[in-house]
Amino acid sequence: MGLDGLTTYDVGRVRAWFPGIRGGLARFDSPGGSLVARQVADAVHGAMTAGLNQRGTLHEHERRAESVVQECRAALGDLLGTDPTGVVLGRSATALVMQAAATLAQGWGPGDEVVVCRLDHDSNIRPWVIAAERAGATVRWLGIDPVTGEVDDVAPLLTDRTRLVAVTGASNLVGTRPDVAAIAAAAHAVGALVHVDAVHLTPHAPVDRVALGADLLTCSPYKFFGPHLGALAADPALLGTLRPDKLLPSSDAVPERFELGTLPYELLAGTTAAVDVIADLVPGRESDAEPGSRRERVVASMTALAAYEAGLLAHLLDRLAAMPHVTVHGRPARRTPTVLLTVPGVANTEVARHLAEHGVVAPHSSFYALEASRALGLGDAGGVRVGLAAYTTRDEVDRLLTGLASLG
Ligand SMILES: Cc1ncc(COP(=O)(O)O)c(C=O)c1O
Repeated sequence: MGLDGLTTYDVGRVRAWFPGIRGGLARFDSPGGSLVARQVADAVHGAMTAGLNQRGTLHEHERRAESVVQECRAALGDLLGTDPTGVVLGRSATALVMQAAATLAQGWGPGDEVVVCRLDHDSNIRPWVIAAERAGATVRWLGIDPVTGEVDDVAPLLTDRTRLVAVTGASNLVGTRPDVAAIAAAAHAVGALVHVDAVHLTPHAPVDRVALGADLLTCSPYKFFGPHLGALAADPALLGTLRPDKLLPSSDAVPERFELGTLPYELLAGTTAAVDVIADLVPGRESDAEPGSRRERVVASMTALAAYEAGLLAHLLDRLAAMPHVTVHGRPARRTPTVLLTVPGVANTEVARHLAEHGVVAPHSSFYALEASRALGLGDAGGVRVGLAAYTTRDEVDRLLTGLASLG
């Protein structure tokens, strides 16, 4: 399979999977939640109608529930380059980070330090701040450049008392992809753990938890064509050292110890289907002797998708640069195809409403990346966010550009 996304990525084939496209709107709202693939909805329906109950070994519906869980962990293992036995499933990335922070903070005390980054969605900031404050630990802030949207150097913040560094794999506001591997290496050198929020990265690039140096990493399947839930991936050995709050009769095994209550089995089946959709974004050639492992197909597909999205993004940024009435916020060197813009003199609400008249969906907010929005000088209002996705076409980008041009 070639790695040139422009030649190997067939957006028409991919679009046929998304019933949500039928409405004819150009959807640039995927960073808030992608369209759902038909295969995912079918898998959720299939799991529910096939019959599921609590996990067990005696009856078919119990065995089905068990295999749905194991298949979902395996799929996320393939998606994230991580050991499936360290995949924790939960309500949302936010809920999982809140739990991880509270659990890790059991070992923190006065004098300990935690580093959070202003680029992040608040779900990778506030849980650590709350947990640090409760433990009497100190919070250190990793800043961002207000013009480029790049992350500052982490080195001056690290000491031998740093317990954890929390950083995003990609900004859901301006698309910046910090050099997570370098940040993690510096954190590990002082003995700190690293949590990477990969919620916005996962739909746009191959993710390899181990290569990133993430001791803990979270993602949300509803951002990559799947159902609304979250997953946390970690080294199972690390999870084995942690004691989350849990009920007495519930399993103390890893990763079950972290999973509160009954898992949403039908959504797990949908999540497995979402990973299979990703693995199939670029089909293997008929002539290929064998299709390769799912992990290999995920990496090849995501590499091709990243190249396709980069091509569309270059076109979008190029045309926006020729519109003096539009301000694009941040110009990070390495990024996802997510662009934040404002039109000085025109309220964000009005820009979004105007685009809606052109059949374009581009919401406005700080999108919970509140610290980033403030650091960029946009206060709590943020801007209008344009997120390209696996199903975005050049025609849709041009429709967006026409809508923006007519505001000038
Ligand atoms: C970068 C990022 N992190 C975390 C989250 C929160 O994810 P969840 O809704 O699964 O809690 C979001 C949601 O928008 C996000 O974009």
